[in-house]
Amino acid sequence: MAKIKTIGLLTSGGDAPGMNAAIRAVTRSAIYNGIKVKGIYRGYKGLVDDEIVEFQTQNVSNIIHHGGTILKTARCKEFRTVEGRQQAWENIKKHDIDALVVIGGDGSLSGARQFASEFDFPIVGLPGTIDNDLSGTDHTIGYDTALNTIMWCVDRIRDTASSHARLFFIEVMGRESGFLALNGALATGAEAAIIPEISTEHDQLAELIERGFRKSKNSSIVLVSESPVTGGAMGLAERVRKEYPQYDVRVTILGHLQRGGSPTALDRILASRMGAAAIDALLEGQRNVMIGDDDEKMIYVPFSKAIAGKKPIDYDLLETLRRLSI
Ligand code: F6P
Repeated sequence: MAKIKTIGLLTSGGDAPGMNAAIRAVTRSAIYNGIKVKGIYRGYKGLVDDEIVEFQTQNVSNIIHHGGTILKTARCKEFRTVEGRQQAWENIKKHDIDALVVIGGDGSLSGARQFASEFDFPIVGLPGTIDNDLSGTDHTIGYDTALNTIMWCVDRIRDTASSHARLFFIEVMGRESGFLALNGALATGAEAAIIPEISTEHDQLAELIERGFRKSKNSSIVLVSESPVTGGAMGLAERVRKEYPQYDVRVTILGHLQRGGSPTALDRILASRMGAAAIDALLEGQRNVMIGDDDEKMIYVPFSKAIAGKKPIDYDLLETLRRLSI
């Protein structure tokens, strides 16, 4: 593979706390190794529209503690078209970019995989999403911060839930994955987590009610993954009002609150290590891999594995949650 002299760097899809720490780490590791960095604004959209500027080390000063992404982000429709990707390729040539580092979730890495194979171009991905739904990595950048935000919010809702003896359904993000709901429930001592992974197997709400929850407690908190499969918090509350009217039910949807805020130490460290590993990967001649963490070690995960199938949740955690909610 030809020597890499210049990389392009972008963040794409939903932002996640820690993306700035990753931008900083990629930029500084590249410059440390004598590689130029071109910052691409608004994800693939900036690649198509030529919003590309050279980054120096100062461009990434004082950002490690900020949420969001200084490169901005977008979900880009044009990049899904052949013409859009061709335009992106023209801009890559125009700016002498030899490789790309893409920070984003599964949609962003799928786009990277397609572009890499169409133009035979080296790309390294970093898993940046609060959902933790990419295979081949124990954690994604932003997940720990989102979990902590959920914990902060649920602790506050617990005060009012217990004052009023109410049943609260608290909806968290995660797209089609239950990592935030399940681990958020464990972290907050919630009664249960209703997650998409097991929704097709049985009626989680009926099981929860039959289990006799609230017998020994005067209030209950249930974390629900956003998802058409679970019905979301609104759908479940609607059912409780009809089927179990004895419960005084309320709903809180945490929504985009979960995406913001200063990243936790764990996310800053993960993003810094992954950013540095992305440059190592390119220098070692790796291409079309995502950086993953496997038991604290940085590993290279082929795009095909990172985005293939559904990352499984740990079913033992559901059992632990059940046991601890008696
Ligand atoms: O993938 C991150 C995520 O926050 C999901 O949890 C959520 O379903 C989605 O993005 C929301 O996307 P948007 O911000 O575009 O509404």
